[in-house]
Amino acid sequence: TQLFGIIGNPVEHSLSPAMHNAAFAHLGLNGVYIPMRPADLGDGFRGLKSLGFVGVSVTVPFKVAVMDYIDEVDPVARKIGAVNTLLFRRDQDGQNRCLGYNTDWLGSNQALAEALDLATSTVLIIGAGGAARAVGFGLIEAGARVLVTNRTESKGRDLARQLNCPFLSAHELPTAQADALINTTSVGMAPKKEAVPIDPALLARFPVVMDIVYAPLSTRLLVEAKQRGCRTIDGLKMLQYQGAAQFILWTGREAPHAVMRQALLEELR
Ligand code: ATR
Repeated sequence: TQLFGIIGNPVEHSLSPAMHNAAFAHLGLNGVYIPMRPADLGDGFRGLKSLGFVGVSVTVPFKVAVMDYIDEVDPVARKIGAVNTLLFRRDQDGQNRCLGYNTDWLGSNQALAEALDLATSTVLIIGAGGAARAVGFGLIEAGARVLVTNRTESKGRDLARQLNCPFLSAHELPTAQADALINTTSVGMAPKKEAVPIDPALLARFPVVMDIVYAPLSTRLLVEAKQRGCRTIDGLKMLQYQGAAQFILWTGREAPHAVMRQALLEELR
């Protein structure tokens, strides 16, 4: 049996075990994916290595600190400053090496690419935290034009500087225009389901609106956007596609997208 899993704290509510185990079962692969909460990251990492884990997801609060233990960090993950995927591989010299990737940006890009051609699009990002970094650097990788806005201006300007893109302050939003808008903040997440990260009256200016919040699946932002004729993309898409990118890295097999999405939907219920 090949071992896979996720490390995080908390990790009990992760949807990833259901998603990956469903994919293994569907393809008849002899793999198992388990949630783990290491008391100490270093001990946990060495444990994964000595137990022969093949692939591991990394979530909050370990995405940045885990980079200290990895033998080789992928260049985009390095730019983002966070790793969410570990791949353990035996080298020619027999050494067990750990490679670190970030698949969050692959997930957001693939989700958005269902609705637009990223290389010719402008995307407004709401937020400046870890998720915004992954989404932002991902969009730049794909050749998109990026705009950033954030509640705390200083943090937003910091990210905009790193992405080498414009920052829009609150008073500039009413005249802002982009092909897509993506919320990378937790605004709208249950239990504060009525909250929106931007004045809904402005949504008509964005033909595509994506949320990374997936509980509820239909956030108020997406409902308001739909009412104004925007095309919407829910937060499970990013989770699903980042998981699919992990699956391909770990197994070399095409990811069964429909099966993975169905498993996520069932787990959310
Ligand atoms: P993550 O790593 O999940 O992205 P984070 O680093 O804590 O989380 O970042 C959270 C982001 O959501 C920030 O951009 C934060 O805005 P501030 O920089 O002003 O804190 C944004 N955010 C969280 N709660 C918010 C709220 N109620 N209204 C607006 N923005 C909010």
